[in-house]
Amino acid sequence: MAMTYNLFLLPGDGIGPEVIEQTRRVLGWYAAKRNFAFTAEEDLVGGASYEAHGTPATDAMMKKALAADAVLFGAVGGPQWDKLPFGKKPEQGLLRLRGDLKLFANLRPALCFEALKEASTLKPEIVSGLDILIVRELTGGVYFGLPKETTTLPDGQKRAVDTQVYTTSEIERIARVAFELARLRSNRVASADKSNVMVTGVLWREVVHRVHDAEFPDVVLTDVLADNCAMQLVRNPKQFDVIVTDNLFGDVLSDEAAQLTGSIGMLPSASLGAKDAKGRQPALYEPIHGSAPDIAGKGLANPIATILSFAMCLRYSLGRGEDAALLEKAVERVLAEGYRTGDIMQPGMTKLGTSAMTDAILKALDALA
Ligand code: IPM
Ligand code: MG
Repeated sequence: MAMTYNLFLLPGDGIGPEVIEQTRRVLGWYAAKRNFAFTAEEDLVGGASYEAHGTPATDAMMKKALAADAVLFGAVGGPQWDKLPFGKKPEQGLLRLRGDLKLFANLRPALCFEALKEASTLKPEIVSGLDILIVRELTGGVYFGLPKETTTLPDGQKRAVDTQVYTTSEIERIARVAFELARLRSNRVASADKSNVMVTGVLWREVVHRVHDAEFPDVVLTDVLADNCAMQLVRNPKQFDVIVTDNLFGDVLSDEAAQLTGSIGMLPSASLGAKDAKGRQPALYEPIHGSAPDIAGKGLANPIATILSFAMCLRYSLGRGEDAALLEKAVERVLAEGYRTGDIMQPGMTKLGTSAMTDAILKALDALA
């Protein structure tokens, strides 16, 4: 009997609903053409959930996310919610998902499609053939460390504290993910930290090396200070294969890496938890571009990051590597054919909106299947 995948869709805010709608169409194609049986319940998250329920993540939604084989996430946030108290902000919905599902490993590939090497703000020879993978620790560090608070001092001024904290086991498990993935690629890991100023950085470096020496001596490991890593990414990004780093540095470096590829509208991500005894692994897939409120609802958003996130879901959660590769090839093909959304538009190319870009991808899937 064929397996029925239990997918859970969280479109969220801004362009999230538009791009997740395109994922639904791709799901439909796989159901019709590739013997892909699934359920895809949908719920609110972020600002949309706040408007309906007064909270960015309800317990009922969290329960469904925990039970799903994979969560397909759009984006959260928007200027209309900027003034909300911290705990009600749309972003807290995503952070609760990451925290409660224990999605500690965030994989952010930055791949420059050959057809797009001219679309980057960097010189084509710097980004041509670029293929790096940022492995970001996602449930620790300053995002989740306590105390996290604002207090008022006796003299009336305010004092805000975030806490950067890492334990040995948190560093070990993310290091293992990075080394294991490096073995499937070019076998090189650069570990980015601030061990020159932060004690968490000192521990990070110590533990990454211990895991390396004991379990992955075949992988080439280099250390790089996070600030230097940011500079090296624009100077000579192809020196990197896998970059492993903490939650905050990973947030910053992955946006930077995204821009190397031409547009942040291109980049998918996977957030994975630990496998349980039965081999089940919590997982959430999301484009890294965010909610882009300025273009929301206009049919202009690039659906490729979200569609490629579904490709990552096929590969990492559903064990359908061939189907994942097919979808990636279809995207490559439409780009090679000259189809572009506004964010990656170049002279002489054909400009498409969100849904027309998906039409082109579905057509390419038909041609390739
Ligand atoms: C990301 C985003 C999130 C983060 C926000 C939306 C909470 O920037 O996934 O990179 O800071 O992690
Ligand atoms: Mg970010």
